[in-house]
This record gives sequence, structure tokens and C-alpha cells, in this order.
Amino acid sequence: MRIALGNSLPLLAIVVMAFPFASVAQQTNADFNARIRMESHIGTVTGHAKAGQSDYRRYCAGCHGDRGDGMGENAPWLDPKPRDFQLGIFKCRSTPTGTLPTDQDMSETIARGLDRSNMPRWNTFTGQQKADLVAWIKHFSPRWVSEKPGTPIQIPPEPAITADRIKDGREVFARVQCWKCHGVTGEANGPSAATLQDDLGRPIAPFNFADGSSPKCGSSDQDVYRIFMTGLDGTPMPSFADNLKPDEAWDLVFYLRALMSEPSKAKAIARQLGLKSIDTNAGVGPQ
Ligand code: HEC
Ligand code: HEC
Repeated sequence: MRIALGNSLPLLAIVVMAFPFASVAQQTNADFNARIRMESHIGTVTGHAKAGQSDYRRYCAGCHGDRGDGMGENAPWLDPKPRDFQLGIFKCRSTPTGTLPTDQDMSETIARGLDRSNMPRWNTFTGQQKADLVAWIKHFSPRWVSEKPGTPIQIPPEPAITADRIKDGREVFARVQCWKCHGVTGEANGPSAATLQDDLGRPIAPFNFADGSSPKCGSSDQDVYRIFMTGLDGTPMPSFADNLKPDEAWDLVFYLRALMSEPSKAKAIARQLGLKSIDTNAGVGPQ
């Protein structure tokens, strides 16, 4: 998304220079009209931006700010900071890195909340309320006027979990260097962990697989698959879509399950195997 923003700036400069001010003002009006009439489509429900405004003021503006800039009155005391909706950059997406999320993605985020942050779960809203809120959130960023959401990534059916798959997942974890940030045991203590910052220059910790935390963007096997294949935009957590085949991605999901503290089939198998954490000095290291 940084590329898209960077490209649009010189273009904008040319438009401003080439046209008299009146037409620039018209363009701005057209842009405003497009944004205030923003819709969202979630299943059979259509959301309308204007209809989401009052719920937003009541429930969201205290953190995200009236103008959606993330500067609500509570923001100074929060870490991580509330999202700045004017940027149009989102962590939880089913769509490839750098692209806009789908309306459905945002509606699910609102219902789920974001673990390890002050963003609560809003599971009492109706589908219509969430759809209207999504449309209102979209109206804050010009990205939704000029771009369409990305195409959701394909997640192939989950294969049966086997000891071999968990061992293979361990090799993938070593090869693509998840451990550099997440640590060899997944405890958020890799060599790069202490230096990580988000795109706005704020310190950010990698996810700790071993302390019982839930991933912010969902905790099912499919969610975990999606997280590392789409990346968390705005953070150092990259997309591995170009580095992993679907089969390898599933192996990795199984290995991550074995690192997590919750009881799971993967964890039981790993214990039975006596699977050790990777040794980065010895390649993958002894099993
Ligand atoms: C108490 C503060 C607070 C309130 C109230 C709040 N949020 Fe948030 N919200 C946050 C924080 C903090 C984040 C960023 C969390 C993170 O980055 O891990 C966030 C992030 C988000 C995101 C971005 C998710 C992503 O994928 O990046 C959306 C969408 C969102 N909030 C919607 C809402 C809506 C809609 C409401 C009102 C119904 C709301 N929030 C109310 C604190 C709040
Ligand atoms: C450059 C550092 C870095 C690398 C490499 C990295 N991650 Fe992350 N990862 C992060 C950070 C930082 C977060 C936390 C983002 C947040 O809290 O918003 C994260 C979060 C996660 C999460 C939780 C996401 C959520 O929804 O809360 C998962 C799962 C994850 N990473 C898996 C992986 C896997 C698997 C790999 C290797 C294929 C990997 N990461 C490589 C930095 C990294």
C-alpha cells in the first residue's frame, strides 16, 4: 500500500497544476459525495455510511476519533493505538498484502475485537449495524473511492494432521525464519523481536505463541493459515504467500499449533514425538 500512496502523490500534483481551481473543487466535491454515499455489502445486507454515523459517534469515536484519525480522547492512554481509518490500512484481511480488506473482513473484526488491545468485541450489534459501521469506516479513507478490495486468498481444505506434517512444519518455520521475530520456541523472543516497529514508527511485539494469547485476526486453523499468507498490513508481520505452497502452509499451521499452549492434537503428537524446538545454529536441528 505504500507503493500505491507514493504513486498517487505526483499524479495529484499534476492534476492540481493542469486544471483551474474550480474543477479541482468539483473533483473534491465528487470525492466527498462518493465517500458519504459509501456502501458496504455483507451477505444480503447493504450498509449505508450515513446510517452508521450515530453508532460510530456513540461507540467508536472515543478511541478512533470523530474524523476517524485514531485520535479519540482515549487514544493517548492506549497501546496499541486505535486504528487511523483515514489511512485505509488494516491488519485483519482475507485479501493479499497491500490490498483493501473485504466488507465481510471488517464486519468480522468488529464482532471479534482485537486481542491484546483495547478494541472490544462488539457482538451485540445486528448485522445491519455492523454493515452501516463498516460503510462509515470506509468513508474516512479515499482508498475506497479509487481502489477495490483485493480478491480473498484461496484456502484449500485442511488436510489430516500427521506426525510427518508437524515435522515438515517445523522445517518450514526454520526455513522462512519465522523464528527471527517469534523466537525458536514461539515465545516472541527472536533476535529481531526487540527492534520491531509498526509503519508509524511505534514499537510492536511479535505474537507469543506460548502464553495463551489469541491471534487478533481469528484463532481457527483457517484463520492462522490466512494470517501468515496475507500478513498484517501496517506491521512488520509480512505475507508469506510468495514463499509457501499451500501444503507447506498447512504443515506450518500444524507446527504453530504444537507451539501454542492450548491442548490440541498437534501438541499431543509433538509431545509423543519428543519434538524439540529448532536449533538455528545447526540448521533445523535435532528433532
Ligand atoms: C476502547 C477503545 C476502542 C473502541 C471504543 C473501539 N476501538 Fe476499534 N480499535 C481500537 C484499537 C486500540 C485498535 C487497534 C488494535 C491493534 O492494532 O491491535 C482498533 C482497531 C480497529 C479496527 C481495525 C482492525 C484491523 O484489521 O486493522 C477496526 C475496523 C475497528 N477498530 C473498528 C471499531 C468500531 C467499528 C468501533 C465501534 C463500534 C470501535 N472500533 C471501537 C480501540 C477501540
Ligand atoms: C519481521 C518479523 C516477523 C516475522 C519474520 C514473522 N512475524 Fe509473525 N508477527 C510479527 C509481529 C510484529 C506480529 C504482531 C502483529 C500485531 O500484534 O499486530 C506478528 C503476529 C503473528 C501472528 C498473530 C497474528 C494476529 O492475528 O494476532 C501469527 C499467527 C504470526 N505472526 C505467524 C508468523 C509466521 C507463521 C511466520 C513465519 C512464516 C511469521 N509470523 C514471521 C512479526 C513477524
